[in-house]
Amino acid sequence: MTNNYSEQAKSVLQSNWTGEFTKPAPHLYPHQWNWDSGFIALGYSHFDEDSAKKELRHLFKGQWANGMLPQIQFKKESGISKYFPGADFWQTSKVLDKPKNVRTSGITMPPVHGFILWHMANNVTDKQSFLPFIREMFPKIKRLHQYLYVYRDLEKEGLPYIRHPWSSGTDNSPVWDDVMNRIEIDRFELPTYERKDLQNKKAKSHRPTDADYDRYVYLVDLFRKNNYNEELLDQLSPFKVQDPLFIGILNYSNECMVKLAEIIDVDATPFINWRNLTTKGLNSKLWNESNKRYDAYDLVNHQRLSNFTCNSFIPLLSGAPSVERAQQMLQVMFNEHLNNQDHYPCPSFALNQEKANYEKYWRGPVWININWMLYLGCKRYGFTEAATAIRDGSIELIEKFGFHEYFDPRKSILKNGYGTDNFSWSAALYLEFINS
Ligand code: DGY
Repeated sequence: MTNNYSEQAKSVLQSNWTGEFTKPAPHLYPHQWNWDSGFIALGYSHFDEDSAKKELRHLFKGQWANGMLPQIQFKKESGISKYFPGADFWQTSKVLDKPKNVRTSGITMPPVHGFILWHMANNVTDKQSFLPFIREMFPKIKRLHQYLYVYRDLEKEGLPYIRHPWSSGTDNSPVWDDVMNRIEIDRFELPTYERKDLQNKKAKSHRPTDADYDRYVYLVDLFRKNNYNEELLDQLSPFKVQDPLFIGILNYSNECMVKLAEIIDVDATPFINWRNLTTKGLNSKLWNESNKRYDAYDLVNHQRLSNFTCNSFIPLLSGAPSVERAQQMLQVMFNEHLNNQDHYPCPSFALNQEKANYEKYWRGPVWININWMLYLGCKRYGFTEAATAIRDGSIELIEKFGFHEYFDPRKSILKNGYGTDNFSWSAALYLEFINS
């Protein structure tokens, strides 16, 4: 790790460090985000083990008593918040399950932490002195998985569902369009709010639409009116989706927790059982035999949400598909999704789709965290050429255009990096790519 870009990557992380945790970006995202922190901790594990541990420790301070790990933990600050929706809007302070003196949002995010801990354990130089940290984090991650299987998998299919597009991390992906468009907005009922993200000049034109935000706000309002009560929200939420990205990540974390349990000599049985159940659920309910990919499933309207997005391929990461299915997925990804030499891998929405927009947040651009997970997925099946293409493409995007939040897949576009710059997970995963 000696090149100049590695040094720049480290300084992006260091400049976003607040003293307690790392902001995803200097201005657009001023608090601590759940899956961002996982990727960030992994980046630190290459050069600053202490910050890597602090990052995850701080994140789990926000864990609720029922095991839920919030999507955002808000920075203690005075004055007007630069982010919407801030802690005041979420109104989680009355929730008994929430830890006192920590301000959080009221939804979760993809459970990357089990597999992040495993990869961190592989990165650190002194494996022995890392063991106490594995012992410390293990029960917290177990409680998170328990929460998902107890409250979000009521049919015991091994497919915990999400209640908000922000829980998927892929906020305005076309996957959610059908469900979100069904939500009718009554302007008189909707709380008034002001978007702060549009004040960011660099990100403004690529962000989700106002119609998207109305629906995001509608859902938060419903959740807060019901004081985040799991049973009530299970009945009331118009958004209940089983997402192959969220579930593929959970499934890989289960697998990594089994390996970590062996290292610290604790019982791995719950993770073995969860992994078996989830693998079965993915392959029976979410596999789409005609399109050779995994679909999301809408539990409210009882229908598949079949869209050609990156979410459909994340189960490769966890080894869920058989070798035969994985090969079929690869064919689909490289022939249609990744298209040809004119594009960088891997667009968040297939290149040949009518609704694709290469500049719009999760509706086409390339994201480095998705690339890293697809790279790992290809590697585990021995798809070396594909893995190398994803790795090299990701490194090239960053070295040419900087540590942006997301990138245009078209090689013909000269100003390629979009969203905010100095984006922490692009820096963290650059370090991971360079060192893997
Ligand atoms: C945002 O504010 O754009 C985030 O993605 C919500 O988690």
